[in-house]
Amino acid sequence: MTPTYTLNDGQTIPVLGFGTYPLHGEDGTAAVVGAIEAGYRLLDTAVNYENEPEVGEAIRRSGVPREELFVTSKIPGRHHAYDEAIASTRESLRRLGLEYLDLHLIHWPNPSVGKYVEAWRALVALQEEGLVRSIGVSNFTGEHLTRIIDETGVTPAVNQIELHPYFPQREMRRVNEELGIRTESWSPLGKRQAPFSEPAIAAAAEKHGVSPAQVILRWQVQLGCIPIPKSATRERQVANLDVFDFELGADEMAAITSLGRPDGRLFGGDPDHHEEM
Ligand SMILES: NC(=O)c1ccc[n+]([C@@H]2O[C@H](COP(=O)([O-])OP(=O)(O)OC[C@H]3O[C@@H](n4cnc5c(N)ncnc54)[C@H](OP(=O)(O)O)[C@@H]3O)[C@@H](O)[C@H]2O)c1
Repeated sequence: MTPTYTLNDGQTIPVLGFGTYPLHGEDGTAAVVGAIEAGYRLLDTAVNYENEPEVGEAIRRSGVPREELFVTSKIPGRHHAYDEAIASTRESLRRLGLEYLDLHLIHWPNPSVGKYVEAWRALVALQEEGLVRSIGVSNFTGEHLTRIIDETGVTPAVNQIELHPYFPQREMRRVNEELGIRTESWSPLGKRQAPFSEPAIAAAAEKHGVSPAQVILRWQVQLGCIPIPKSATRERQVANLDVFDFELGADEMAAITSLGRPDGRLFGGDPDHHEEM
C-alpha cells in the first residue's frame, strides 16, 4: 500500500500517483488498468487530456473498489465562468462514469482571462454538494493563491505544479507549505529532458541499487511533494511505485535539488502548456 498524506481538508491522498496524459484509446485503457494492477491508487486525468472515458473504463475493468481509488480531474481554461465550471465538472463525472471526484483542480489560472476566482467559487460549491471531495489548483503562483483565498476564505488542498530536478520550484514549494497546501509534481521525471545521467542522480542510483527514475521519484517523496509519473510500460509503472524501501541522505537530496537551472522549465505542444485552453 502506498503511504498517504492528510490534506488540509482532512481527506487522505496517496504520496505518489499515476499521470495519464497522453494515454488514449484501447492501449490507454490497458495502460491505466495495468497501473491500477501495479498498485497505483491515485489517477490524474483532465478534461484537456480527452481520456476521462478511458480512465473510467480502466477503473471499472480493474475491479478495485471505487472507494480505494483517488481520482483527480481538472477544469480547463475555457470553462472558468461559474456555471461553465459546474457544468464542466458534471460532464467530467459523466465521462468517467463516477459519482464523485476525489480531487478537482483548476488546470491553469489563465490570468489574462481573469475568471479563475469564479472557477474557484464553483469548486467550493461542488465540494459542498459532495460531487468533489477535495478541491485544488494547478500552475498557480503565490499571487493567484492569495487572491482566491482572500476572496473566498477557502484554501486549496493541492497545487499541482511542474517540478523535477531541473526545475525544483524552491519558492513555490515554500509558498504552498506556508499556506498549508500540498504540492503535487507534474512531469516529475523531467519528461523529455529527464536528467537520468546527471552525476548526482546516477551516483545515488548506483549507491542505493535502484534506477535513476527511482532516485528522482524518491527525491520528490522526501521533499514532501506528490509525483504523478506517467508510463505506458508495465515494468516502469511497477518500478516507479517501488520507492519506499530506500532513503536518500541530506547530501544526496541537496545535490539533486541543486540541479535546478533558469532554463529548466519544460515547454511543449501538449495542452497543459496553453494558457488559453
Ligand atoms: N497540471 C498540468 O499542467 C500538467 C502538465 C503536464 C503533465 N501533467 C500530469 O503529470 C503527468 C506526468 O507528467 P509527464 O507525463 O509530462 O512527465 P513524466 O511523468 O515526468 O515523464 C513521462 C515520460 O517518462 C517516461 N518514463 C516513465 N517512467 C520511466 C522510467 N522509469 N524510466 C525511463 N523513462 C520513464 C515515459 O515513457 P513511457 O510511457 O514509454 O514509459 C514518458 O515518456 C501527466 O501524465 C499528467 O497527468 C499535468
